[in-house]
Amino acid sequence: MAKESKMNREGFLKGAIVSIVTLIGAALGLPALPYLAGPALQKSGDQEWIRLGPTSKVELGQPTLFKFKVKTQSGWIVDEQELSAYVLSNDGREFVALSNVCTHLGCRVRWIDDEKTFFCPCHNAVFDKDGKVAAGPPPRPLDKFEIKVQDNTLYIKGG
Ligand code: FES
Repeated sequence: MAKESKMNREGFLKGAIVSIVTLIGAALGLPALPYLAGPALQKSGDQEWIRLGPTSKVELGQPTLFKFKVKTQSGWIVDEQELSAYVLSNDGREFVALSNVCTHLGCRVRWIDDEKTFFCPCHNAVFDKDGKVAAGPPPRPLDKFEIKVQDNTLYIKGG
């Protein structure tokens, strides 16, 4: 009888200790869960509007280069890249933003004003002013960013 009572007391104490440790662990661990899981649960592909600069910087009829920075996050890894876009407008009201990344293998294109074309030096590709392929191996035109004007300031989405 005494032995049975001792076993019950030991079992009860073990159960109580396990319960207390579990409660302490939960109390300490639960608040940390959103911090630990948050970045991993973030949706990739969420894009925000990126401020380029004033519309007055764009020369009419001439692609104008704007530089901007984009932060990307994959899990806990945050990366910041400096990118560029050429903005073109013929009337100061409608704007088009072209990526300066060649659609062949990703080299940077540059505007050659004398020839009124974009040129990629890696494999001698040529794009016209609207970004269409004029010569060379690129499989498609230069990519376009979604663009908007707000308070005389240009914003693009993407990157
Ligand atoms: S990367 Fe531009 S032509 Fe090849």
